[in-house]
Amino acid sequence: MATVQLHHVTKQFGDVTAVHDFSLEIDDGEFLVLVGPSGCGKSTLLRVVAGLEEVTSGEIYIDDRLVNHVAPKDRDVAMVFQNYALYPHMNVYDNLAFGLRMRRVARDEIDRRVRQAAEILGLADLLRRRPAQLSGGQRQRVALGRAIVREPKVFLMDEPLSNLDAKLRVEMRTELARLHQRLRVTTIYVTHDQTEAMTMGSRIVVMKDGRIQQVASPLELYEQPANLFVAGFIGSPPMNFVRGTLEPRDGDLWFAAAGISIRVPGALAGATAGLGGHPIVLGVRPEDILVDPERVRVLPDHRVEALVEVVEPLGADAFVHLLAGEQRLTARVPGRVKVRVGDRLTVAPDPDRIHLFDPATEQALSRAATSP
Ligand SMILES: Nc1ncnc2c1ncn2[C@@H]1O[C@H](COP(=O)(O)OP(=O)(O)O)[C@@H](O)[C@H]1O
Ligand SMILES: [Mg+2]
Repeated sequence: MATVQLHHVTKQFGDVTAVHDFSLEIDDGEFLVLVGPSGCGKSTLLRVVAGLEEVTSGEIYIDDRLVNHVAPKDRDVAMVFQNYALYPHMNVYDNLAFGLRMRRVARDEIDRRVRQAAEILGLADLLRRRPAQLSGGQRQRVALGRAIVREPKVFLMDEPLSNLDAKLRVEMRTELARLHQRLRVTTIYVTHDQTEAMTMGSRIVVMKDGRIQQVASPLELYEQPANLFVAGFIGSPPMNFVRGTLEPRDGDLWFAAAGISIRVPGALAGATAGLGGHPIVLGVRPEDILVDPERVRVLPDHRVEALVEVVEPLGADAFVHLLAGEQRLTARVPGRVKVRVGDRLTVAPDPDRIHLFDPATEQALSRAATSP
């Protein structure tokens, strides 16, 4: 088990800065998820931790030992890739044992580790099979097993579930979580899939263009996104954004856009003080657009008139696509709510759950801890 520390790590490939001034401390036994769109530098970051790429600048420590110049094989990390290639002519046992044989581990020690990994992964009855005789999920487990038998200090997992079909991916998520609870090996898990990140990480790092955008728990990312990118990336369907202006009226500030006028709630008054006349972006999650007439009635300063353009029923929920003034908004409503295309509704963004962003810096304006 080990901690991993990254101090101002930058990695350039010619003109491309794949990872930019990345600093993070990963706790002993932590399962850290790194998420971001394709090309944001996730794999590069894992590869510099593994030692497969050298950093351009910065330091990497594994268990307080500077490893910048330590060879990959001496870093005691094991990597699991998306495109795991099992040896097709070897059975499961030999696939699991191969790396250890290369490292000249003693024969009975190899046998112990292979059988233990096979037991943990539910492969004990499949040791004599070849990869072609396994299902996709079983093959993925063998790939994980090859990392487990190494008994490394750190697991580095680069989108290991991306090649599996949707159902299997969900099952393997749970299996990986269980595996981590059992082994407690420090893990850095990379994915481009925000749902996967949200369900698997206790702490998530959101990356964009090689830079950290936010480090937080899943709930904190969802409820207090630090900037427009995180707000739009985490959550499905994504947060609604409306561009407008802050206007002073009767001692309050109001958010104003074509067809929408909403009083800025008290919790955001401090952050918006003095911003009258400034452009602003309002963000509201689909489930935070209230449609229940009883709830909308008591929010006279937050009502929005909207036309229902499309309804997408999903069973438990429905997505209702609205046109409010010139703005398109998506609301998520309970599936039982009767809404039809062409209906005119009065809706209200829940004032306790409105987000405001500065369009110049793209940063969120912070909300006071308690709303009056
Ligand atoms: N060996 C390389 N040579 C040149 N550019 C690279 C190399 N590896 C990655 N890059 C570039 O670095 C950026 C980050 O890539 P990568 O780490 O693979 O992103 P991700 O894994 O998040 O999709 C991309 O712009 C990619 O094209
Ligand atoms: Mg990648």
